[in-house]
Amino acid sequence: MKIKLANRMDRLGTETAFEVMGKAKALEAQGKEIVYLQIGEPDFPTPGHIIEAGVTALRAGETHYAPAAGIMPLRQAIVEEVESRRGVRPKPEEVVVTPGAKPIMYYLLMAVIQSGDEVIYPNPGFPIYESMINFVGGKAVALPLLEEKDFRFDADEFRSLVTDRTKLIIMNTPMNPTGGILTREDLEAVADVARERDILVLSDEVYKNIIYEGEHVSLYALPGMPERTVLLDGFSKTYAMTGWRLGWGVMPVELAQRVEKLMINSNSCTATFSQHAAIQALKGPNDEVDAMVETFRERRDFIVDGLNKIDGISCITPKGAFYAFPNVKEIGMSSQELEHHFLYDAGVAILSGTAFGKYGAGYLRFSYANSVENIALGLEKIQTVLKKL
Ligand SMILES: Cc1ncc(COP(=O)(O)O)c(C=O)c1O
Repeated sequence: MKIKLANRMDRLGTETAFEVMGKAKALEAQGKEIVYLQIGEPDFPTPGHIIEAGVTALRAGETHYAPAAGIMPLRQAIVEEVESRRGVRPKPEEVVVTPGAKPIMYYLLMAVIQSGDEVIYPNPGFPIYESMINFVGGKAVALPLLEEKDFRFDADEFRSLVTDRTKLIIMNTPMNPTGGILTREDLEAVADVARERDILVLSDEVYKNIIYEGEHVSLYALPGMPERTVLLDGFSKTYAMTGWRLGWGVMPVELAQRVEKLMINSNSCTATFSQHAAIQALKGPNDEVDAMVETFRERRDFIVDGLNKIDGISCITPKGAFYAFPNVKEIGMSSQELEHHFLYDAGVAILSGTAFGKYGAGYLRFSYANSVENIALGLEKIQTVLKKL
């Protein structure tokens, strides 16, 4: 049978990281050695006390459905976390727990975007923003992030993109894929516009704990913003819990109720035992998380130094997350060609900057969620292949 797909499927993008992983695994199965520098997840195990909490919950029978918006003790723990980290105390009914932070993006866009509504989003940025804006019928308005501004945006350019049709502004700090962070000044410019023109904001802060320089500023904490901000965060990056599928959003109650309804219609709830483990993640101790961030910092310094020693590559020092986003324009090949050569000729999996939007052309994303030995091996292999090209 020839399946006739819905037109909306033509508008759905993807996250190339998963595709490159598939190609790399296929090469590995053929016996080729692969260095994985494309993956967006910590290579550390989930801290022991969180695993214990998950196992205890499973043994205690926490294997059934839970409330769609999350179990109350976890929502309360998130209230405490938001208050301690952002200085604003949300109500528990404003918190929705989801299987990963990603669904919050989808549900929010489904809940508020009508055909033709404009959404400003960072570019290069997490690819799901653009994909999902298009999927739900919105108009994706790219806000360029500029290398010369440490991958921040130009405030005048930002203002010039705002129109009467702007329904939502998406911001992410610390940022994927560039490792940049937005300053208080940047975020105040966004908050000013959001307040003046009554626009909703999505603040993606999943990397807030992985920061090496500067402070993490939350849009949610700026004056007048809690009533117009959806704060998105999760457990994947901070606690090395990508496979537990745990994220959350804080948003005005009328939105939280709609997001809960979308949860009921799709996932029913987030895995119950994962939620019990999440409470312990928030309670701490945090020493394993702190040690992980310190290790990332050492690797960051190592990879930036190594990349800058390669002819044709220049890399500014990222301030957060675990990605380096070097400029490769001088090599004289497109980012996609380099992604291909690095994988098939060098056995090094990285991502073309264009996987994160059109303004990623001329850049590559390296994840340093891998050991210094493997990073060194990857850089050596790349250098060898570049000499031959
Ligand atoms: C910027 C950003 N936001 C959100 C997510 C989603 O993470 P998860 O769904 O695992 O919580 C990611 C994952 O790569 C990300 O990079």
